Amino acid sequence: MNLIIKIIKIFPPEAAHLIALLSLNLLYKLKILNLFFPKCKEENVQLFGLNFSNRLGTAAGLDKNGDFIDCLGALGFGFIEVGTVTPLPQPGNSKPRIFRVSKEQAVINRLGFNNKGVDHLVRNLKKRKYEGIIGVNIGANKKSKDKERINDYIECFTKVANYTDYITVNISSPNTPSLRDLHDDKNVKILINELENQSKVLNFSGPIFLKISPDEGLEKILNIANLVEKSSLTGLIISNTTTNKNMLDDEKYHSYEGGLSGKPLMSISTSCLKDVKDRYPDLPLIGVGGVINKNDFTKKIQCGASLVQIYTGFTVIGPKIVHNILAE
Ligand SMILES: Cc1cc2nc3c(=O)[nH]c(=O)nc-3n(C[C@H](O)[C@H](O)[C@H](O)COP(=O)(O)O)c2cc1C
Repeated sequence: MNLIIKIIKIFPPEAAHLIALLSLNLLYKLKILNLFFPKCKEENVQLFGLNFSNRLGTAAGLDKNGDFIDCLGALGFGFIEVGTVTPLPQPGNSKPRIFRVSKEQAVINRLGFNNKGVDHLVRNLKKRKYEGIIGVNIGANKKSKDKERINDYIECFTKVANYTDYITVNISSPNTPSLRDLHDDKNVKILINELENQSKVLNFSGPIFLKISPDEGLEKILNIANLVEKSSLTGLIISNTTTNKNMLDDEKYHSYEGGLSGKPLMSISTSCLKDVKDRYPDLPLIGVGGVINKNDFTKKIQCGASLVQIYTGFTVIGPKIVHNILAE
């Protein structure tokens, strides 16, 4: 299996990711996935009214369209987050748009919410066999501005509400121009208010998280934490990728456009998580950013995460990372 993973990595990152997921799906359909990647013992945990089979989940972006829910679920994740999905399908930015920084266990991406649209995702959610917890990460189309942007979130929320356990509202992708303006006090208040209203209209009882950026400065983040705590939303996912590439040893990448994920993100995303937990101990938090091994996973939990998500670690280590993290 290690050889197969090495061969897949010869391909450019975006193609390699698709080949890897298609291969896992094939193994799943042949019913031999767990011969290669055995599931760990379940450690059920009750959180926000949901029963998670363990605390490790996939981060958004790994399966944007919900095309691989069943095979990812079969790997033993405690929950799967699909998306980011937008109301209309969109191609994203021009290729190449994902760059491996292999020596530093990192990735830079500037995908720009490429996805097949919310209707495609809903079809996949309806036909899934996976019975574990699923979350849908929602976003806005690139061409939508201001109020249209809020309408996009509400449209996605409305379409997926009956088929998901929780919702993540992604305000933190660095690859959709000005999306991060939604961290500003006035904008985030409008967004929270609209989400609260729509959740009443839809009678949606599941948790709703805002996924935030690690680059906004502590004051802004604590303000958002305060607003979310006072609202009927549930908590925060900390964090998305960082636009600060200067922490990479290889200076070649400092000027690359896009968000940095993987090992170099661990310390800033975890200190952001801890800062929020210190000030708002009762606010539920999901930790994501730079988890490559069990120590990183444990550190996120110690710093206040109820759940932890991974993306880049999955591409760097391969599917056995699930076992590496969850095995005793
Ligand atoms: C190629 C790629 C695509 C991503 N796409 C999304 C996305 O669509 N929505 C989102 O909220 N986060 C997205 N992310 C961010 C991840 O969900 C995660 O927050 C970030 O990568 C940090 O975690 P990691 O270090 O484990 O990768 C993406 C990350 C990568 C590397």
